Amino acid sequence: MSKILMVCLGNICRSPLAEGILQSKLPSQDFFVDSAGTSNYHIGNPPDNRSVNIARHNDIDICLQKARQFTRQDFIDFDVIYAMDNSNLENILKLAHTKEERNKVKLILNESFPNANKDVPDPYYDSNKGFEIVFNMLDNACTIIANRLQNK
Ligand code: 4NP
Repeated sequence: MSKILMVCLGNICRSPLAEGILQSKLPSQDFFVDSAGTSNYHIGNPPDNRSVNIARHNDIDICLQKARQFTRQDFIDFDVIYAMDNSNLENILKLAHTKEERNKVKLILNESFPNANKDVPDPYYDSNKGFEIVFNMLDNACTIIANRLQNK
């Protein structure tokens, strides 16, 4: 079982989408995909309605997800930890104790744009269009991730 964690700030906009999208591309008997936030702002909350809607529009159901905060245990529980932006990446790396833990953490858009260190923009204060742009960025990155994980 390969375990992949998606991380953003609130765990209500970007990482719930990344979780749902990657899950939709991988067989659940071989892969566990989860998400978390670096902040405690929205612990226990469902994803933002705008994320739920753009996911549903693409036949992905994320409405049963619940926000949780990233913890040090996640370095033990997961094989790969994808940060949605550079700020999340820095905050996750601050919690890492070992080189092995640091090596698990990657920027998700480096999958689509190697070494470019691009951010998935925070859509929280944006319109529905912002969520559509984020969905498409994450869909492209997750296609690449899913193909590599399955040696396609
Ligand atoms: P996310 O978006 O990190 O993609 O879940 C945000 C959600 C909430 C806040 C910021 C970003 N907030 O400041 O409450």
